[in-house]
Amino acid sequence: MERLQKVIAQAGIASRRKAEQLIVEGKVKVNGEVVTELGTKVSNSDKIEVEGIPVEREEKVYFLLYKPRGVISSVRDDKGRKTVIDFFPHVDKRIYPIGRLDYDTSGLLLLTNDGEFANLLMHPRYKIEKTYIAKLKGIPPRPALKQLEKGVELEDGMTAPAKVKFLSGDRKKNTAIVEITIHEGRNRQVRRMFEKIGYPVLKLRRERFAFLTLQGLNAGEFRELSPHEVKQLRELALRGE
Ligand code: URA
Repeated sequence: MERLQKVIAQAGIASRRKAEQLIVEGKVKVNGEVVTELGTKVSNSDKIEVEGIPVEREEKVYFLLYKPRGVISSVRDDKGRKTVIDFFPHVDKRIYPIGRLDYDTSGLLLLTNDGEFANLLMHPRYKIEKTYIAKLKGIPPRPALKQLEKGVELEDGMTAPAKVKFLSGDRKKNTAIVEITIHEGRNRQVRRMFEKIGYPVLKLRRERFAFLTLQGLNAGEFRELSPHEVKQLRELALRGE
């Protein structure tokens, strides 16, 4: 048995607080009866409706995909390009990516059908660290990287301090490999940050999401998260509250 507001939140319909509001406002039915009591518990066989729409209740699944380049991070694509969902033909649950990686970015991407978990990890307030390896055009000197550590002004505002590590430079090819860790998730943020300091990104890969890495996976492969990993991620996010 689980609390009604939790089941509604897990289905991705609303945050837990909003779900409570929907219940109090009389917009939720259990087995055809309006329920306004917040403590109500429901079982798997109870039929729940929110504003007349049945709540789908699937078993929750959690995957870690090594997204290759040239794949779109959404459930479907108008232009018929390959999407991250195409890697899961055998999964009959309605999974979707937690956040996104650019079409040209490879690396670690989580997918789930647990809406509450996805919202928790995506919310900027929870400050989950993500580490990227960037191949840059040019070899940035230390002061340029220091700027990223402090924060740079982008068109949507200052970036939060980042952790930056210079890994290697190739004088002949005039390229460098730099590791950067950020906890924000703005659109094309890493690319825009390096662009801003004058060293455009040629290639980008997400290596780490919180404590999760790509270890053991090749591009295009995935694994399920263990229940322990899911629990740890939840705790990590909530600790930042
Ligand atoms: N930053 C980017 O620029 N691209 C991504 O895909 C992720 C972070």
